[in-house]
Amino acid sequence: MGANDSQSADQGQIITIPRHVAIIMDGNGRWAKNRNSPRHVGHRAGVESVRTIVEACAKKGVQALTLFAFSSENWKRPKKEVGLLFDLFMIVLQRDIKRLKKNNVCLRVIGDKTAFPKKLQECIRMAEEKTAGNSGLVLQIAANYGGRWDITQAARKVAEKIKSGELQPGDITEATLNAELSFADLPDPDLFIRTGGEQRISNFVLWQLAYSEFYFSDRLWPDFDAAAFDLAIQAFSQRERRFGKTSEQIRTIKN
Ligand code: IPE
Ligand code: IPE
Ligand code: MG
Repeated sequence: MGANDSQSADQGQIITIPRHVAIIMDGNGRWAKNRNSPRHVGHRAGVESVRTIVEACAKKGVQALTLFAFSSENWKRPKKEVGLLFDLFMIVLQRDIKRLKKNNVCLRVIGDKTAFPKKLQECIRMAEEKTAGNSGLVLQIAANYGGRWDITQAARKVAEKIKSGELQPGDITEATLNAELSFADLPDPDLFIRTGGEQRISNFVLWQLAYSEFYFSDRLWPDFDAAAFDLAIQAFSQRERRFGKTSEQIRTIKN
């Protein structure tokens, strides 16, 4: 079993807690549209869901939570929306740092940060520095992140090692490439969630989702609350993760 060995009893049912949850937080724009509001109102409302789910993960003993906040493709959105998203990101980083420290959360931002405004880069650096010593939940915000970007930058690093003679092409294994990817120190996501009704990866984590359990929710992200998250965990708990083996093999190992 790829998830947390510690199982928690929830209303008499044994619940397996995933070690790592990765979420595509989708549906902010539609949430705002339903209220005849501009899209940034939906993004602001989405921040509340982030707080709720971070807290729920910390409470449940999830080791890592990766949230997709801005994809490498989201630059294609209107300039004004991109600017407002960066402003919001900066405000939340500054405002929530105390809350993260209190909850023992270690914050990391994954993605190509070099493309961000300098002020935002500095804000990220400070937030990461201030929470680096926290030993609880690792909260990864994927910003200007793309699964293909990650694999490409890892391949570039491996190529440089070959160029310097540190590695031979024949030495390259899955582990060699894996080690150069973002969050190589964390377990692969056990549970992948996408809200907002779409059933696609949209260039989120690609390599490390190889054996994740997928869960799609029709709820728009600002409506994704603790109860909705519990349903996802319950669904995950009921999956049989076979990793290529037969059901019989899995049951023999368990018993
Ligand atoms: C997700 O919500 C947030 C980001 C991509 C930043 P959307 O903004 O994609 O919301 P919808 O899909 O248009 O409803
Ligand atoms: C994926 O959502 C990116 C984030 C949630 C940050 P999108 O709304 O951008 O995805 P597509 O364009 O509908 O596939
Ligand atoms: Mg969307």
